[in-house]
Amino acid sequence: MNVYDSERMADMLIPLGYTITDSPDHADMVILNTCHIREKAEQKVFSDLGRLRDKRDERRTRGADTVIVVSGCVAQAEGAEIIRQAPYVDIVVGPQTYHRLPEMIAKATRAVHKTKKPGQKKGLGIVDVDFPVESKFDSLPQTAESRVAAYLSIQEGCDKFCTFCVVPYTRGAEYSRPATEILAEARHLLSLGTKEITLLGQNVNAYHGQAPLGTEWGLGRLIRELADLGVDRIRYTTSHPRDMNQDLIDAHRDVPALMPFLHLPVQSGSDRILEAMNRKHTSRTYIDIIERLRNARPDMGLSSDFIVGFPGETDKDFEETLALVHHVKYAQSYSFKYSIRPGTPAGAMDDQVPEEVKADRLQQLQDLLNEQQLTFNQKTVGTVQSVLLDRKGRQEGQFIGRSPYMQSVVVNAPDRLFGQVIDVRINQAHPNSVSGTVVTHEV
Ligand code: 5AD
Ligand code: SF4
Repeated sequence: MNVYDSERMADMLIPLGYTITDSPDHADMVILNTCHIREKAEQKVFSDLGRLRDKRDERRTRGADTVIVVSGCVAQAEGAEIIRQAPYVDIVVGPQTYHRLPEMIAKATRAVHKTKKPGQKKGLGIVDVDFPVESKFDSLPQTAESRVAAYLSIQEGCDKFCTFCVVPYTRGAEYSRPATEILAEARHLLSLGTKEITLLGQNVNAYHGQAPLGTEWGLGRLIRELADLGVDRIRYTTSHPRDMNQDLIDAHRDVPALMPFLHLPVQSGSDRILEAMNRKHTSRTYIDIIERLRNARPDMGLSSDFIVGFPGETDKDFEETLALVHHVKYAQSYSFKYSIRPGTPAGAMDDQVPEEVKADRLQQLQDLLNEQQLTFNQKTVGTVQSVLLDRKGRQEGQFIGRSPYMQSVVVNAPDRLFGQVIDVRINQAHPNSVSGTVVTHEV
């Protein structure tokens, strides 16, 4: 979601004359788009800001200046507190108000011209972390640049209030964009040459958007309509087990453009911990969903998020997580140590798990998940996979693309195949990727 927001901010600023630069050394403006999900991500913001201030001061000695913007969920959660801790910040803008950035920047640049002094320490102190009534989507411009693999935000916010999570507080209540708006944006992306669309939302499968003739569509229906528009590859993320309805599962059976891969976070394998997390599903109901998905699409690749060391988690609870992982066999996964988030119910629970125990459990879990990922990758060796080449590799002539199962596939290919879906024979499996050779190259 943050990548999507960053792209939209760039789309908005390009018409104002900004271009993207790869180093803050040359930047007239730096936007730090931040994440608040775990403490580590938040701490990084303040160390990065300190470095940006030094860069800005150095540019000032050369007669230039840098506007410093903090956006995203740390901005939303901390608001004016950011300015208190880092007074040199010019603009603080939340995820629901970044469509107002052009006005704020106009204000900031006017002020910078008036007040610019090398010794000036304070920033402009503009803060906008509203949850406005108007939807930011109504004001965002259409995507300006062509992207072979594009994100399309269809849903935002969350009403689930898992006890560990800040998202309902920073991203606000659940909201689904109207289906006609989404289809129009998809048509626009197709006209720019997009081959793959990833539908985004904090609770993407809770999607229930207004549709033509006063009806409402769920995610399954939306996916079918997008496939009918001619989108080659469709993905969606992130889903909650509670919203995995039959129509969506059926779409995995019926829609060839829907990729056979699903990120479905389970968080824990212990029903006791799942209850304390307020997940409202059990390990059994989760496994049932996985079985139904595999019935619909036998080759389905799966991924999940896991939290170890949630308050009160015992060795037995953790063993149950390992048992669930053994049972499901994931293609890839993300796992984290529980991190106390301010204002969340779990943050106030008294049976917090010691750091060393969390670290030890994380290591065990990651060893198992890495082993499963390698096994998954090894199983694709010798097969031919359709791969959308969407990134340049490290070496000359090398490209990286995604297999249907979200594996990173490294391949040598001529430049003209960039942005194409091609067939690749997989020759080698690595822990985080596979490599192969091009089978077809007719374009
Ligand atoms: N501590 C650790 N991990 C967390 N996540 C969310 N909140 C926390 C937290 N307080 C993880 C969950 C979620 C993913 C995006 O981040 O696993 O699915
Ligand atoms: Fe956070 Fe996801 Fe739970 Fe919502 S459903 S509170 S976003 S973990």
